[in-house]
Amino acid sequence: MDRLHITGGTPLHGRIPVSGAKNSALKLMVACLLTDQPVELTNMPNLADTRFLAQLLETLGVEVYWPKGSSTCHLNAAELKSTIAPYEQVRKMRASFNVLGPLVARSGHATVSLPGGCAIGARPVDLHLQALEAMGADLRVEQGYVKAAAIHGLKGAHINFSTVSVGATEHAMLAATLAKGETILENAAREPEIEDLAQCLNSMGAQVTGAGTPVIRIKGAEALKGTVYPVMPDRIEAGTFAMAAAAAGGDVTLDGAPVAALGALISKLREAGVTVDGDEAASTLRIRRNGSALKAVSLSTQPHPGFPTDLQAQFMALVSLAEGTSIIRETIFENRFMHAPELSRLGADITVRGQEAVVKGVKQLTGAPVMATDLRASVSLVIAGLAAEGETVVNRIYHLDRGFERLEEKLGACGAKIVRRSGEEE
Ligand code: UD1
Repeated sequence: MDRLHITGGTPLHGRIPVSGAKNSALKLMVACLLTDQPVELTNMPNLADTRFLAQLLETLGVEVYWPKGSSTCHLNAAELKSTIAPYEQVRKMRASFNVLGPLVARSGHATVSLPGGCAIGARPVDLHLQALEAMGADLRVEQGYVKAAAIHGLKGAHINFSTVSVGATEHAMLAATLAKGETILENAAREPEIEDLAQCLNSMGAQVTGAGTPVIRIKGAEALKGTVYPVMPDRIEAGTFAMAAAAAGGDVTLDGAPVAALGALISKLREAGVTVDGDEAASTLRIRRNGSALKAVSLSTQPHPGFPTDLQAQFMALVSLAEGTSIIRETIFENRFMHAPELSRLGADITVRGQEAVVKGVKQLTGAPVMATDLRASVSLVIAGLAAEGETVVNRIYHLDRGFERLEEKLGACGAKIVRRSGEEE
């Protein structure tokens, strides 16, 4: 089992390239199921999650050519040999569930395991299922599997989501591209990854309008064609490095950063006293803090364009070193404060009350062994470790490898003292 050893207290100086967005890549990969022509995705992040989805697609009969280390992934779903996504594969990664709609749209039927619970809350899929049912799919849940059929194809529907859901919006969009007639999605999620998916689908011949607004319209097509499409840059990775630089201090420029997608974080960083210069045209984001104190900042996570839940843990690590008290509210997921007790092991003063964490800033964090619990929580421990005095050991970093490409290499290039070691936990 790998772990990271971090010796904190060194300011970061240099440039970091931003990788392709994991959350976007996963849905773009699924889109290949909608066509019998080749789909080539460029700027693909090499991550445990994306490699894992490639394996599931192979099980379904997709030809995948994605050499190790390459950022171009070739997918060809000319012929599907299975429409069953097994529990073992969906349980490990929730985004796999999104193959259900495209499989039904393309083949008329599919059997996909329910994802089950996960570390950050119950995360049901009721909205996904409601959307597919509205499009005419006949659904049955048996022994933990969703069996879906639409022998005469899916049909366009008017769907008004009761809760904003990224996954359900994307799932409905994917399925609707091959439905008969028009689908209207109301109260749709507005995340940049939704716009990325819409653009990719349109490059495949779909007619999706309104992505990025709460109302999305999709005119169904008989068939879609292949495409070559670049995955958008990862706003969560970029935001994470921005907070690493803010916490450790120094002067870091992120190259290929999706500046416009990071508005909520940029304004909160400025409120905390960090100097942030974004250049949208050049896709660069420069973060500076040279000796000035951090100020407490309160926030509440919200669907886009609000503050992203995927950056909440990292922000908590940052304000644990600020002057004053910050209140962090998590409104998207229950049980997403598992990083709080681990940050406390480094000396942070955090009290969790339900969906709220009260963070009283301390002058200094001190290195300690800690445990990664989920993807974003683990990287918050890396940020805290970079700012702490002494050595921090982050155990169980397989969570990190799910979503961060070459993390220690990218931070190391900016002077961070961070090494990966294998073997027994510390
Ligand atoms: C996606 C992201 C994840 C991010 C989240 C919120 C991917 C692979 N993952 O997850 O990193 O944290 O968006 O920005 O893109 N809900 C229901 N019923 C449903 C679906 C969702 O009640 O059928 C609830 C969830 O439990 C949660 C809320 O809606 O409380 C938002 O979840 P959702 O936006 O669907 O998150 P994901 O798509 O799973």
